[in-house]
Amino acid sequence: MYRFLCFLAILSLFSGLEAGCPPYFSRVGPKCYHVSLEKVNWFVADRRCRAMNATLMVFENETDREHTTDLLIKRDVPFNNDWRDAVWIGGNTLGLPREFVLSNDGGALPFTPWLPGEPNSKDEECIDYFRRAEKFGYNDAPCLSLFPFVCQTKALSKV
Ligand SMILES: *[C@@H]1O[C@H](CO)[C@@H](O)[C@H](O)[C@H]1NC(C)=O
Ligand SMILES: *[C@@H]1O[C@H](CO)[C@@H](O)[C@H](O)[C@H]1NC(C)=O
Repeated sequence: MYRFLCFLAILSLFSGLEAGCPPYFSRVGPKCYHVSLEKVNWFVADRRCRAMNATLMVFENETDREHTTDLLIKRDVPFNNDWRDAVWIGGNTLGLPREFVLSNDGGALPFTPWLPGEPNSKDEECIDYFRRAEKFGYNDAPCLSLFPFVCQTKALSKV
């Protein structure tokens, strides 16, 4: 059994697959993430994720946020303490005044780690994530800003 598991582990390394994740996705806890450093507006990012049978990333809780942020840093997402170095999040107002929801289905966001003072502008209807003064968090941004994006999907297996 152990040998067999080793064999599977090595096989998945060679095929670039991480347990329970589609190709080019990385496993973090029960989720799989795909990082794209291409800078696109929120709508294009949303479509790119859907085309991969995934949705734009949202954090479930603080642990998910921390572990996923480690992955993003490893994948060279530039978090240079600047609002221009952000990634898109799967939340926006869907055209409703100042009520941020899951863009996927309009449901409530599971966790909203807003940066201090955010959200703050009525012209900013999409959510991004960046580092400001050593603190990472959500921010409201104009949806036509150009940022890298991260797609997520549920892992299919437990391990
Ligand atoms: C899309 O993902 C869901 C789970 O998130 C899975 O059940 C389904 O088979 C996937 N479809 C394709 C075409 O990959
Ligand atoms: C945090 O979210 C992850 C999903 O990414 C889940 O596996 C974990 O159980 C959650 N932790 C708590 C304390 O809810």
